[in-house]
Amino acid sequence: MRSRQGIRKRNETMGTKEEQIAQIQGMKKKHNAVILAHYYQNAEVQQVADFLGDSLDLSQKAADNDADVVVFCGVKFMAETAKILSPQKTVLLPREDAGCLMADMIDADDIRALKEEHPDATVVGYVNTTAEVKALCDYCCTSANAVKLVRAIPGNKILFLPDRNLGQYIAAQVPEKTFVFAEGFCPTHHFIEPEDVRQAREEIPDGEILAHPECRPEVLSLVDFVGSTSQILKRARESSSLRIVVCTEQGILYKLQKDSPNKEFIMLSPKLVCPNMKKITLDDVHRSLSRMEPQIDVEDSIRVKALTALERMLQNV
Ligand code: 13P
Ligand code: SF4
Repeated sequence: MRSRQGIRKRNETMGTKEEQIAQIQGMKKKHNAVILAHYYQNAEVQQVADFLGDSLDLSQKAADNDADVVVFCGVKFMAETAKILSPQKTVLLPREDAGCLMADMIDADDIRALKEEHPDATVVGYVNTTAEVKALCDYCCTSANAVKLVRAIPGNKILFLPDRNLGQYIAAQVPEKTFVFAEGFCPTHHFIEPEDVRQAREEIPDGEILAHPECRPEVLSLVDFVGSTSQILKRARESSSLRIVVCTEQGILYKLQKDSPNKEFIMLSPKLVCPNMKKITLDDVHRSLSRMEPQIDVEDSIRVKALTALERMLQNV
């Protein structure tokens, strides 16, 4: 009984969607806040965002804006990255429990053990890592800049973590270096099978298949294009194909359709959903701005070290 009353009260406070959006705009102005959202977010969240992007764009945007408050609609490592780059800003993650399953697959002890085993390797950490892990990396990268960055690194031996699939994708394009991989993966992308691609080819012979490098190599070898979310968006805009098969998280459909309303976008598999990316709703954005919580903080000793790895990435792209 108490919780039902609670729900009614909350809805009365927040009003209709239109009222909520107007209130969000008002609170943004009052707090000098900016809303950043990843392409995997729910469409209603992408609609109120001031800036949409992939993880690289969003980290750059977090560092390069005049707002006092950043409402980060994504997963925790992304909000932490914003805080590392802009410690003077209040960074809100509307759902504190929106983690990244891949980032949670490796912790500081794992990376210390790997470094001990491979003391001669340069450690490159995918941005999908906790702040603590970033603090132990020499460089950070995202899927948009990984190949370019790894090529430019002076060392010849690379310890890449946590995503083994992305690591193998990079290694295939940088054959002059040797690689050691951790065992992490993204459950949303990793469980796509080569058979899913073969079936899509058969059913949609005129379709162009675009995939994220977090998929397994045997899947990537069958698709037409591999790229980060922003690279997939660019390719879809420029493609002469009118039917595009999408092999990354389904939230990207919102921007794909907005950019190219004349094209048909088909998800390669219904499995391509990231439960954590789907946690944040408009209600959460509203509540977060009105309460100024949950705030993301990164302890200073960790922040300073993680910043070095992130800055090395930003200087190289
Ligand atoms: P992008 O860097 O391509 O935005 O990808 C982030 C991510 O979490 C992919 O699963
Ligand atoms: Fe993490 Fe995968 Fe979700 Fe991206 S899609 S946030 S890598 S779990």
